[in-house]
Amino acid sequence: MSKLKLYEYPHPILHKKAERVTKVDDEIRKLLDDMLETMYADKGVGLAAPQVGVSKRIIVIDTEQRDEDGNYKPGRPMYLINPEIIYKSEEKILFCEGCLSIPGQSAEVERYESIKVRYLDYDGKEQEIEATDYPAVVLQHEIDHLDGILYIDRLSRLKRNMLLKKLEKYRNSREEQE
Ligand code: NI
Repeated sequence: MSKLKLYEYPHPILHKKAERVTKVDDEIRKLLDDMLETMYADKGVGLAAPQVGVSKRIIVIDTEQRDEDGNYKPGRPMYLINPEIIYKSEEKILFCEGCLSIPGQSAEVERYESIKVRYLDYDGKEQEIEATDYPAVVLQHEIDHLDGILYIDRLSRLKRNMLLKKLEKYRNSREEQE
């Protein structure tokens, strides 16, 4: 496995609709393995292929990366290829989201409280999963990536502009430290 380069806002690949995967083969599985390693290395809970420069409909998530003491550890990784939301609850929730492509920032975003997703797994088998609350939020965030949508695109223009200013400051101070 190898850690992949992360593409950050405003790279155009993050705003492109990703292509469906036609065949789950070893090349795709290698990408899934590398994406998971990259996600763990950067302490993310989800990662979409466009974030590593691959415009394909592939995501990895792991929302159970804490032990009882709140320490970080790999939990239950999930691989989803061509994920499709086939059910959305009427209820919505607000959740504070961050993104590895928008480092150091977070904001509250409204999402569906529960969803059902159909996808192909690591072996190319069709699966369905129901998710509620936090896992549902992570899934919606990552599936958005496949449609070229970032969480900041779901904020009001005012909030989005404020966040982008903070991102610029964050990047400047990061560069000074390097
Ligand atoms: Ni993200």
